Amino acid sequence: MTQKILLLPGDGIGPEIVAQAEKVLRALVAGGDLALQWSSAPIGGAALDACGSPLPDETLRLARAADAVLLGAVGGPKWDGADRVLRPEKGLLRLRAELGLFANLRPALLYPQLAHASTLLPEVIAGLDLLFVRELTGGIYFGEPRGIRRRDDGEREGYNTLVYRESEIRRIARVAFEAARRRQRRVCSVDKANVLEATVLWREVVGEIGGDYPDVALTHMYVDNAAMQLVRAPKQFDVIVTTNMFGDILSDLAAMATGSIGMLPSAALNGSGFGMYEPIHGSAPDIAGQDVANPLATILSVAMLARYSLARDDLARRIEAAIGAVLNAGYRTGDIASPGTTVLGTGAMGDAVVAALADG
Ligand code: IPM
Ligand code: MG
Repeated sequence: MTQKILLLPGDGIGPEIVAQAEKVLRALVAGGDLALQWSSAPIGGAALDACGSPLPDETLRLARAADAVLLGAVGGPKWDGADRVLRPEKGLLRLRAELGLFANLRPALLYPQLAHASTLLPEVIAGLDLLFVRELTGGIYFGEPRGIRRRDDGEREGYNTLVYRESEIRRIARVAFEAARRRQRRVCSVDKANVLEATVLWREVVGEIGGDYPDVALTHMYVDNAAMQLVRAPKQFDVIVTTNMFGDILSDLAAMATGSIGMLPSAALNGSGFGMYEPIHGSAPDIAGQDVANPLATILSVAMLARYSLARDDLARRIEAAIGAVLNAGYRTGDIASPGTTVLGTGAMGDAVVAALADG
């Protein structure tokens, strides 16, 4: 059966990195490994420019009809002045919400070849392999009321609402515990329960769900301490489950332990296993169109797509192994370069992965 993938290149470096992912898909199909067809649609700023909406109806329709979605990145200074409801990011956030993609898996894995690309000491990060399970469709990102209003005294104030329902906490906690069972069986739940009621409930409900997983060790940590611990001793973590906003921040932080944010893929899954896959980095407008962006996070997102949406763990491993081979051969993009390595552009890095796939 031919499966349908929707590509959403988006803004900034999005189109050039998604083009490398497409090379990988093409190679897998040409090699007879997969029956796939794919098409592209606009999202974010590109969609604002083309259709006046950061998530055109047609893009949403195509996403619903697809077996999986692969996204590049959205946003950029060009749209900074855009109306709040028409920001490029709103397109991505609405797509996550419309598709019910509440479970965001963000692995932070250090390729040993990149130990020297990190700003952290090699011994601190050697062997790092942790998984963020970030809640993606709730919390302060979506809570109402929200806005910017004029107070009675004439001053303006901005406000947002951090709100979590028990059911939202339960389902993301289950994802984390299930993931931990396939790993080292340790979950650390990150909250700010010393200050925020929404996360007092978070801590309580994660603890209740933990009762169903006596084989998984559960700990709780405040987010400020977690930020410090991720830099001090990141290997203490196996699975970190946390709220939408804390997960956004901490996953960028942990990315630096892996050498570059250009290496980290993610999967956003709904309750029935449908997924959207994206690198966790943004649109990097400062380097867009220069053929210098690292496409590996996007290619690793294709591996996650194969694993979770196509049930092809074998292909996921092959893609990951091809990236390992490319790094072993000394090829790097600028963000992960170190003395003695060969720096490639975005397109050449995509070609190198395709060549390694053919050899593997
Ligand atoms: C991410 C991004 C998004 C987020 C932005 C682009 C809306 O930073 O996926 O981490 O905050 O979730
Ligand atoms: Mg982010």
